[in-house]
Amino acid sequence: MDVRRSVQAFVYETMKRINLLDEVIRTASDLDPRRVRSTPLRWILRVGVLEMKVWNNPPAPVTDCMVRLAKEMVNERAGGLVNAVLRRVESVDVEEDVLSGRDPVERLALEHGHPKWFVEYCMRLLGRRKTELLLRANNRVPPQYLRLNTLMVDTLTGPELLRRRYGIVTEPTFLEEVRTLIRGRGYGSKAWREGLVDVQDLASACASAALPVEPGDVVLDVCAAPGSKTTHLAQRMMDEGKIYSIDIDPKGLRVLERRCRRLGITCVETVRRDARRLDPDSVPEPPDAILVDPPCSTTGVWNRNPDSRWKPKPLRRFARREWSVLRACLRVAEEYGCPVVYSTCSVSWEENEAIVKRAHDVFGFKPVEPDVPGSKGLERGPKGERFEWPERVRRYWPFRHDSAGFFVSLLEPS
Ligand SMILES: C[S@@+](CC[C@H](N)C(=O)[O-])C[C@H]1O[C@@H](n2cnc3c(N)ncnc32)[C@H](O)[C@@H]1O
Repeated sequence: MDVRRSVQAFVYETMKRINLLDEVIRTASDLDPRRVRSTPLRWILRVGVLEMKVWNNPPAPVTDCMVRLAKEMVNERAGGLVNAVLRRVESVDVEEDVLSGRDPVERLALEHGHPKWFVEYCMRLLGRRKTELLLRANNRVPPQYLRLNTLMVDTLTGPELLRRRYGIVTEPTFLEEVRTLIRGRGYGSKAWREGLVDVQDLASACASAALPVEPGDVVLDVCAAPGSKTTHLAQRMMDEGKIYSIDIDPKGLRVLERRCRRLGITCVETVRRDARRLDPDSVPEPPDAILVDPPCSTTGVWNRNPDSRWKPKPLRRFARREWSVLRACLRVAEEYGCPVVYSTCSVSWEENEAIVKRAHDVFGFKPVEPDVPGSKGLERGPKGERFEWPERVRRYWPFRHDSAGFFVSLLEPS
């Protein structure tokens, strides 16, 4: 394992298990790590516990190493504190002293490194079995997926070309143009720099594959940066027609423009705009199709970004923002009579099925089955709410599809 990978593994594991590591420290010492002001000191304590109690490394060398680090990075007194805490941690039995006697939700949260609210929420939404599967899958790093740039290579000969010329070995997925990276480097590699491949999660590619587009179409990609879906759509349109990539973030749009240049895409025009203010008069051209991928709670990508799970996730507030973006786009789609793909990288009900139901109730848009594989949507929400069309939307689960948790719906005006 090279140094970068092993540092990544340290950071990833510590991030994932913050709640358990902090609980061990509290049990051993009455010290609440969240109150430790010095950031390096807080992390040194956590890494020490991770090494000792999760990875079962011998306590003495771990403590010595952490004490030295604390002295170097903070000061002499911090070294003393680390020594005192880790010596007490040594005698903590995680099962007996920390986990036993907890209620099932709290125990699952500690065992699998997730916030308690999320475990509780998933138990109501998915039941215990799927909740456990999701928590476990969120702790595995998913594979990297490479999307073949079909403007430069074809899906039949591309994989062999990548193997022979670039040492990149891939395997097929259920989407023809998306391959699982098995060996070699994807992001930043020579093949990537030359534009032969792009990096895009399999589930994210299903969102851009779900929009019915043809060469020559006019497409609005709303909330488009950094451009995974824009560039996929451009490939599917053979770089003919027009894609207006709309986003509020100018830096994100610059990234998207660079990405298009790398991939040899010319049919994209970036538009800096607040999507909540889009209306039929202000769109650059009457669209044939719209893709809406608004900012969400990102609860579907905790397998790639473990630190995100510890940030507050007010699902209802996210749902309000998603609705305000989608609502504006539905007004446009209603007037021009075009289909809309609505997608998120969230696993929640509020941001997904509930939004589709609202699109139907308010604007009369109905979900129609998209032409992409995937699991069906949820039938019931966390409070027993019903969703009429689970077969017509797609869900992607880290534990089933080895991808991000994702939601994809294709909405058509009545
Ligand atoms: C989930 S990301 C989009 C990912 C993108 N579709 C892709 O496939 O690469 C959400 C994007 O929404 C943008 N955004 C947030 N609020 C917005 C708003 N009010 N109007 C337009 N874009 C917004 C963010 O800047 C961010 O780039």
